[in-house]
Amino acid sequence: VTSPLLNILILGDVVGRPGRFAVANLVPALVAERRLDLVVANVENVADGSGLTPTLYQKLLGAGVDVMTMGDHAFRRREIFDTYQTSPRLIRPANFPPEAVGKGVAVVRTRSASGEPDAGTPVAVISLMGQMHMRPSVDSPFACADRLLAGLPPDVKVRLVDFHAEITAEKIAMGRHLAGRVSAVVGTHTHVQTADEQLLPGGTAYLTDLGMTGPHDGVLGRRADRVLKSMLTGMPQAFDVSEGDPRLNGVIVRIDPATGRAEGIERVSLPDTRQVPGARD
Ligand SMILES: [Fe+2]
Ligand SMILES: [Fe+2]
Repeated sequence: VTSPLLNILILGDVVGRPGRFAVANLVPALVAERRLDLVVANVENVADGSGLTPTLYQKLLGAGVDVMTMGDHAFRRREIFDTYQTSPRLIRPANFPPEAVGKGVAVVRTRSASGEPDAGTPVAVISLMGQMHMRPSVDSPFACADRLLAGLPPDVKVRLVDFHAEITAEKIAMGRHLAGRVSAVVGTHTHVQTADEQLLPGGTAYLTDLGMTGPHDGVLGRRADRVLKSMLTGMPQAFDVSEGDPRLNGVIVRIDPATGRAEGIERVSLPDTRQVPGARD
């Protein structure tokens, strides 16, 4: 008897209100139409472009995001520190110093076949950050991944890694390092979706960068006029989040729950045509 494959949506960096609205406008329909068992999102840029607040965390949960990962902006907002300690669904890079608040691994259960929450297959989500061209400096993500995998319960076969890193070579190397040992390695942080989705040997889904769930009319989610003024004059500007061309970027990975092997990976880049620029909630 073969169990049906799990469908897991993983979203690239959600940026500002346009990114959060794209999640709210598009994810519930995707969950229904694509029979999604779990939704994971990198949410390091939700609060005005940097960090996360408890209110925004709750809104994303309500929109259907089951697990949230962070990155170099993990500690930008102090208000979220308590949530790191109380929520099993919010994680920050595991290779931050051990003194940092929060944890780097979440183990949750998918919806059951009948749609009941937290009654299905256990899934581990691991957050890691790169060392190359990244601040703050962190411990080796490779050694950290080895340590975390050794510590996971053997019955948790489905294992997802968000590798938040700048350099493509470091991300590809992480994919190769974890090939056959986890279900998926996906990159975040550069906000530009790459086109190299593939299944690595041993059944590991891989994509160098998921892209950005947010406004695509600017520069990595910020207003183009401000970024250009800064680059043309060398003078600092307020890099406000832009508003046009909101899109949801990520992947849907299909995974055998019995083995944890990925059977497929599909890139997702959807426009949010319902969003009105300047809208508030
Ligand atoms: Fe980001
Ligand atoms: Fe980042």
